[in-house]
Amino acid sequence: MIDLTDNASTHPSTAEPMAQIIDKRVSRRSLLGSGGVLAAAAFLAGGPGSMLRPGSAGAVQLTGKAMSPLLGFEPIPLGFGDEIVVPHGYTATAAFPWGDPIVPGGPAFRGLANSAAEQAEQFGMGHDGMYFFPIDDSEAGNRRGVLAMNHEYTLDAFFHEGGTDEWTAEKTLKSQNGHGLTVVEIELVDGSWVTVDSRYARRYTGNSPMTVSGPAAGHPLLQTGADPAGMNPLGTLNNCGNGYTPWGTYLTCEENFNGYFGSGLGAGFEPDEMQQRYGITAEGFGYQWHTTDPRFDVSDERYTNEPNRFGWVVEVDPMDPDAVPVKRTGLGRIKHEGAAVTTAGDGRVACYMGDDERYDYVYKYLSYNAWSDELSWGRSPFDHGVLHVAKFLDDGSGFWMPLVHGHGPLTAANGFADQAEVLIKARLAADMLGATPMDRPEWTTIGNQGEVFFTCTNNTQRTDDEIDAANPRAENSWGHIIRLKNDHDHLSVHFYWDLFVLAGPGDGVDGSTVPSESAFGSPDGLWSDPSGRLWIETDGAQPEDANDQLLCSDPTTGEIKRFLTGVKGCEITGITMTPDQRTMFINVQHPGNGDPEASSWPSGVACELPRAATVVITKDDGGIIGS
Ligand code: FEO
Ligand code: CA
Ligand code: CA
Repeated sequence: MIDLTDNASTHPSTAEPMAQIIDKRVSRRSLLGSGGVLAAAAFLAGGPGSMLRPGSAGAVQLTGKAMSPLLGFEPIPLGFGDEIVVPHGYTATAAFPWGDPIVPGGPAFRGLANSAAEQAEQFGMGHDGMYFFPIDDSEAGNRRGVLAMNHEYTLDAFFHEGGTDEWTAEKTLKSQNGHGLTVVEIELVDGSWVTVDSRYARRYTGNSPMTVSGPAAGHPLLQTGADPAGMNPLGTLNNCGNGYTPWGTYLTCEENFNGYFGSGLGAGFEPDEMQQRYGITAEGFGYQWHTTDPRFDVSDERYTNEPNRFGWVVEVDPMDPDAVPVKRTGLGRIKHEGAAVTTAGDGRVACYMGDDERYDYVYKYLSYNAWSDELSWGRSPFDHGVLHVAKFLDDGSGFWMPLVHGHGPLTAANGFADQAEVLIKARLAADMLGATPMDRPEWTTIGNQGEVFFTCTNNTQRTDDEIDAANPRAENSWGHIIRLKNDHDHLSVHFYWDLFVLAGPGDGVDGSTVPSESAFGSPDGLWSDPSGRLWIETDGAQPEDANDQLLCSDPTTGEIKRFLTGVKGCEITGITMTPDQRTMFINVQHPGNGDPEASSWPSGVACELPRAATVVITKDDGGIIGS
């Protein structure tokens, strides 16, 4: 999400910065000096981090001289225009824009004039995480499949006739219907990917029936006047990053849910400790929903607990239109970015997740049993397991701390009556355990060697006193990527980590460890494709005020090349491929930040509304993307 709104909540800093806990063996000076990055990298590689590939720490390898066999394309320069640019030999085409009907013959896009009811049958706004599910395992699965796609948020000034003035219940409903996710069946027809009439096509919005599972299901803190059982929440919101499971389901992650809530009492509303920690305020982000829909009025006693019903990972079965989406409370309530899922060596499921807020944390869920056993018993692998939060030590090691009721300070005396409360208040529980406050953890992904990468997008508020080895720059405006390896498969309590790259203008400027020709900032989306290419998507400030971009890295050599540049005012997010890796889909969110005077992508017609859309990328010779 754009930076304007996603850092409103308070962080109590109960977790002492690592710098104050551990004797600082990497001084700020040595990290920020141009040779210092090398020293830090060598330090990490020589310590316990040597379990990672020797010499692989960012600065050592990112010289631009490496010739990765994985990165066969000619990198492109920074982009500044209002078009998508891809390397020579590739073609990029826009598809599935906000407002297009999800099946042929559905309500056509009419700019701002579409009604709320029509929006519920069209692609939502704010395209974000997505995943392509092939229709079957045959070759045809590369040309036809089900695409599940998140819609993070609406830009209401450019979404309704009359913008945000004279707010009405219809505007609230249309805005809610622009959120959530879209499931469509798509097919390659005459060289273009199009939606087809399909039993799979459907929308989930801010009002769709959902259910809840796991330790917090039905808990009093999830009960409302409209749902006394606490089992039937309505809607999913701020669906940011995504995940997908080995058993074929889609995970959609609720991020900045707090912004939709407001108080009818205005300044008279006093958020409690948990509400403060999750950013619930009297004003919200200015959506005005609470003025017409009491569910979003936190001063309405019937809906005091409504915010507790968001902030979860929601599991959707893309191939079963009748299955009700499930909020999986076992994965904790945070501002979820994405969910990277893998099978551990003994068949258990591990899920890595970031909580995108300044000074928030990285989490890992581990199931008790093999996921295939859980499914055979009719249970969810996400309902029976342990959520952990990460502690990063300055020597390049770290460990996962379990968020279990009764463990350490997670007791009733400290405000956690049971395991459900530990999960509903996961941020507060992680604070008490002393998790390491990070520079806004966004997406996670699991590489071909079992290593876990995650982005720390930026944190301009980190001070000199708060730096540590895992967040080594004060006023971190460019962000970084961390690589983590568990010391024994995904089951481990202990892990090793290193700084994969410090983003920035390059060649050591501001401590960046990329060569200048690969300059980038604000890494956000991250995906390791089946060939092991690490794709890096950006959202935020770029060197030279360039447009957001997509880069590709070879984790073995550390080389990073720029693959795509976006349009004015957009972020690049969401990434998936057909199984043969010959068609890539990425998303362009908030082109022009919604303003037709800033961007008219994808139509290219001056002053026409810009629309979030997918970009379909193919190689002209039919080859694997990136090769
Ligand atoms: Fe929705 Fe943190 O990005
Ligand atoms: Ca972001
Ligand atoms: Ca993001």
